[in-house]
Amino acid sequence: MGKQRLKSGEKILFSIFGAFFVLGIIAFIAMEVVRSRSEAPMFAVTTHFDFSPLGLEGSALYREARCNSCHRALRNGTNMGASLDGIGSRRSIQWIESFFIDPEKTYGGPTVDHGLPPKEAAYVTSLPKENLHKIAVFLSELRADRGSAAAAQPPKERSGFIDGMVGTFAPETWKDKYQDIRDKPQGSGSAGEEHQH
Ligand code: HEC
Repeated sequence: MGKQRLKSGEKILFSIFGAFFVLGIIAFIAMEVVRSRSEAPMFAVTTHFDFSPLGLEGSALYREARCNSCHRALRNGTNMGASLDGIGSRRSIQWIESFFIDPEKTYGGPTVDHGLPPKEAAYVTSLPKENLHKIAVFLSELRADRGSAAAAQPPKERSGFIDGMVGTFAPETWKDKYQDIRDKPQGSGSAGEEHQH
């Protein structure tokens, strides 16, 4: 049996695939070259982690206390509990500390994991006070600017598109019932939240 030759349909198919493949590689190289030469950052940095010495100690304690098994922070952890990135812009350090000591009262409602045994994160309340303080300092230093995915507040700019959607689809009664989150002063949020310092 001689060598099997490609049918013309196969030839066309492979050429198209090959062309896409080559194009993809060229585009990727071009993009990387532009990116590495460009001075401007690709994305605006909206989260800040400038840790104080106490905050750094807190970050180590946070890891030791396995908070990561439920929470996400600094690109580590899981999504079982709330993400703690940007929490320093949403909650005051006093709020965080009082949450550790009396979760339900501070939360203003029933909690799932923090609280009294047998809740899974009940152990947090009985960690040494000093450690909890350091962890609270660490968490309060996880900052996010408004508009970032980790911030409670949307970007400052109004969007004509969103205003249009709200105008079209939000029932009239909502105007009395709810306040537009973009009109709220920064720092004040839903029930239980406090102003930052
Ligand atoms: C078993 C899972 C679990 C563990 C472990 C855990 N958490 Fe949580 N955490 C949660 C859940 C769930 C919530 C939401 C409140 C609730 O229902 O308990 C929460 C809420 C919080 C909040 C309030 C967030 C907010 O802005 O409302 C803070 C702060 C917090 N956890 C810190 C910690 C720290 C620090 C540790 C480790 C010492 C820890 N958690 C360990 C599950 C967990």
